[in-house]
Amino acid sequence: MKKHSKQLLAFALFGTLIGTNIFAYSDEDRIKDMQQMEKAVQQMQKGFLYNNIKDIEDGATLLKKHTSKIEPPVKNADEFSKNYAYQTTKREAKKIISLANESVKEFKEHRPKQAMNSFTKVLKQCMTCHARIRKW
Ligand code: HEC
Repeated sequence: MKKHSKQLLAFALFGTLIGTNIFAYSDEDRIKDMQQMEKAVQQMQKGFLYNNIKDIEDGATLLKKHTSKIEPPVKNADEFSKNYAYQTTKREAKKIISLANESVKEFKEHRPKQAMNSFTKVLKQCMTCHARIRKW
């Protein structure tokens, strides 16, 4: 092999590594984020039951941190489906984040019923995705 083509090959391999392995969001990443999200909603629920704003706030912060990272599983999907799954995931994540913010705000404004209501909507959002994702 000529030096020139060796360089090209190395470059291509490097590109493949960067593009598909190093920065890809794996199933393990998703499971880890989901487990943290579950821990976060537990903490928020505990905050509501004990009337403790700190748990509600800390839970919401943890929830937002991990929800903002999630990406859908899109193995073997065509470009259109991948795009659709990605957009849907980002939209649902945005809803969860904004509902978590609302919940904290409402609790701080001494509107615990509304705060609980927004929290329930967060859980509904989790379930919406879990029900739909099996079709992807
Ligand atoms: C955009 C879609 C989506 C949303 C929104 C979503 N999930 Fe998930 N969730 C998944 C998928 C996909 C899996 C399966 C994980 C896998 O096998 O890769 C999963 C799995 C889980 C699991 C099981 C993890 C394990 O150890 O196997 C938990 C717990 C979980 N989600 C909690 C939540 C909570 C709590 C929320 C809401 C705050 C939420 N999820 C919102 C897609 C979603």
